[in-house]
Amino acid sequence: MRPGTSWARSGPGRRCRDLGVRAGRAAPGRSSPVPPARLALARRADGERSAGVRWCHRYGAPSVLLDMHSVIVEPPDTLTPPDSYAVSAEFYDVLQAQDDARRVRHLYGPAVAKARLGVVDVGAGTGRVTLMSLARSEVGVHAVEPARAMRAALMTRLAALPSTQRARVSVHPHTLGEAALHDVADLVVCHNTVACLSPAARRALWAAAGDALVPGGTLLLQLPPARLPVEDRHRVFPVQRMGRHEYGGRMVMSAAGPRIRTRVEYWVRGTQGLLRQHTETFWMWPATRSDLTADLRRHGFTVSSAHHDPAVLAVTLRQEA
Ligand SMILES: C[S@@+](CC[C@H](N)C(=O)[O-])C[C@H]1O[C@@H](n2cnc3c(N)ncnc32)[C@H](O)[C@@H]1O
Repeated sequence: MRPGTSWARSGPGRRCRDLGVRAGRAAPGRSSPVPPARLALARRADGERSAGVRWCHRYGAPSVLLDMHSVIVEPPDTLTPPDSYAVSAEFYDVLQAQDDARRVRHLYGPAVAKARLGVVDVGAGTGRVTLMSLARSEVGVHAVEPARAMRAALMTRLAALPSTQRARVSVHPHTLGEAALHDVADLVVCHNTVACLSPAARRALWAAAGDALVPGGTLLLQLPPARLPVEDRHRVFPVQRMGRHEYGGRMVMSAAGPRIRTRVEYWVRGTQGLLRQHTETFWMWPATRSDLTADLRRHGFTVSSAHHDPAVLAVTLRQEA
């Protein structure tokens, strides 16, 4: 684990290890340490698992976990903990992909189509901007994604692409600064990423974006919330059906000092009710368009008049004199 990443209070691995101690781990060839009555309690009549029950298969024997899986992510310093999004990655696309794919095409599609050198997708997540860039351009695409869970979904998606598109995409399992890309692109896109970066991480990103871009290249970034919410703000994800199950969730954003605490809750329902429920907490730092513009000017960028959607800030890397 890298310095500054001892942030996870809990996670799937740790819970499984804890459980091994609590439930009495079964050795190979021995029967399950979980009492049969408890197993029966945990199994539903229809064969589905009850809410809050997870199974850790270790040494060939199942152990049962009777609590819910929550992850609290402490405010990061400059590096992204590699295990953030460990909960959200599973639900990210089922709850958000369709609407966001349309938004991504609208916000960045025209700029991507004009790219002549390369596109960098910073905080690529499960790959919406990356895939759109491969489809709408002929250039090399760099997907920068430090979180393992999000990158797993991204890699699965990229692996299914035709070989001509796969040949053009590189995945960097780091922040942009750690990826150390120089003069590889004429377009850098940060979609739904800057909001989650601390001021220090943003400054590191501006410097790294300046390195990745050639002079005259463009940085497009989706703006974070301009200010702290005065009261809690709720967003409900529309329910999605998949086979016998329904998926849903909601997000609550609240002010916490200078940051926004964003708690996301997910649930899965079967025919007889709630099957499981998970939470994950993220942190955001508000900033106005003019704050960001001033910061970017100090890193060699000028505001571009070419982009008109108010959700996005477009800046261009100054040409050398
Ligand atoms: C809210 S998600 C958005 C993902 C994707 N852009 C989308 O909109 O679907 C933010 C992403 O930024 C990534 N991230 C966080 N800090 C980063 C950094 N310093 N550099 C690059 N990516 C970062 C996270 O791992 C996460 O996948």
